[in-house]
Amino acid sequence: MTEQQFIPKAYSNTIENGKVTWESPSNIALVKYWGKKKDQIPENPSISFTLNNCKTITTLTFSKNEHASDFEFEVFLDGEKKDDFKPKIETFFKRVEGYLPFLKHYKFKIETKNTFPHSSGIASSASGMSALALCLMSIEKQLATEITESFFNQKASFLARLGSGSACRSIEGDLIVWGQSNAIDGSSDLFGVKYPYKVHENFKEYQDTILLVDKGEKQVSSTVGHNLMHNHPYAKNRFQQAHDNLEKLKLILESGDLDAFIALIESEALTLHAMMMTSMPYFILMKPNTLEIINKIWKFRQETGLHISFTLDAGANVHVLYPKNESFEVLEFIKNELVAYCQNAHYICDQIGFGAKQLTM
Ligand code: DP6
Repeated sequence: MTEQQFIPKAYSNTIENGKVTWESPSNIALVKYWGKKKDQIPENPSISFTLNNCKTITTLTFSKNEHASDFEFEVFLDGEKKDDFKPKIETFFKRVEGYLPFLKHYKFKIETKNTFPHSSGIASSASGMSALALCLMSIEKQLATEITESFFNQKASFLARLGSGSACRSIEGDLIVWGQSNAIDGSSDLFGVKYPYKVHENFKEYQDTILLVDKGEKQVSSTVGHNLMHNHPYAKNRFQQAHDNLEKLKLILESGDLDAFIALIESEALTLHAMMMTSMPYFILMKPNTLEIINKIWKFRQETGLHISFTLDAGANVHVLYPKNESFEVLEFIKNELVAYCQNAHYICDQIGFGAKQLTM
């Protein structure tokens, strides 16, 4: 598979205007992507659970703009014009233009909203970029009706990756692998693929309760953090470890060994943050309450034998992961003991989801 396959031949159809809407979820990585080459080519493979409730809904309205020499678009978040979103989208359009040659022939209105609060510290780039990539693919599908569903998803993931790496894991569900791995047939650095092997019942409907510890703007963006993996003293070992962990996870997903699952994903989360702390310059994204929560989770797990665990993304919030059949006890524990560490007692209940959905043509 190469980039070339995503450059379309001359389109068979023409279309004057239209409107498409997609909703696309966020995802949470189990084996983390941290470190990239140009255009979000990952340094190591990653795997994620697609989420169900945390999502972005984007409507793209388009009309013919034949003689434009530049991209023409407006962006709205929750009905309000957002000019500060434009540079990121402009960069994205530039990166994908070669694969979507119609981009300069239309003018666009991008209207977007999230099901989670914008200032929640939950990254909206994965759901936002994947929703936009899917809307653009829906336009391409009207111009080239021969596009198959599998090509559609693959190219949407490929385009989303060019917007934000982790966004390429938000097109489908329920487990997505991105990055070439010898352990996963069909895996690619260019786009995410559905995890192709058997998954034990224990992981079906896995729960993710997101504890919002800090809703503020991150001090260090993911992009800056990824770049600090260049010349990082532990980078080589870390990338190899991610390869090894994905291979180990494959066995765990098949056997349903929850204890091994917990050990692997918690180690991944802490290793991600260890990479941040050992970068130069170094930084810490966890907050005191992140550590309080982690310690409480460990104590509760030891006392009850329940299979509660945590993972982290590039921020202070904690994703509490647990099997569906332990929901009652775990939610009681979260409400009684962990919510106190959340900003304004705010948390979001989510679970594994099955990917993006088109809402209108
Ligand atoms: C820690 O996908 O946000 O969440 O590719 O620069 O947009 P860019 O970064 P991004 O990085 C996500 C990193 C992570 C781990 C993960 O999701 O795998």
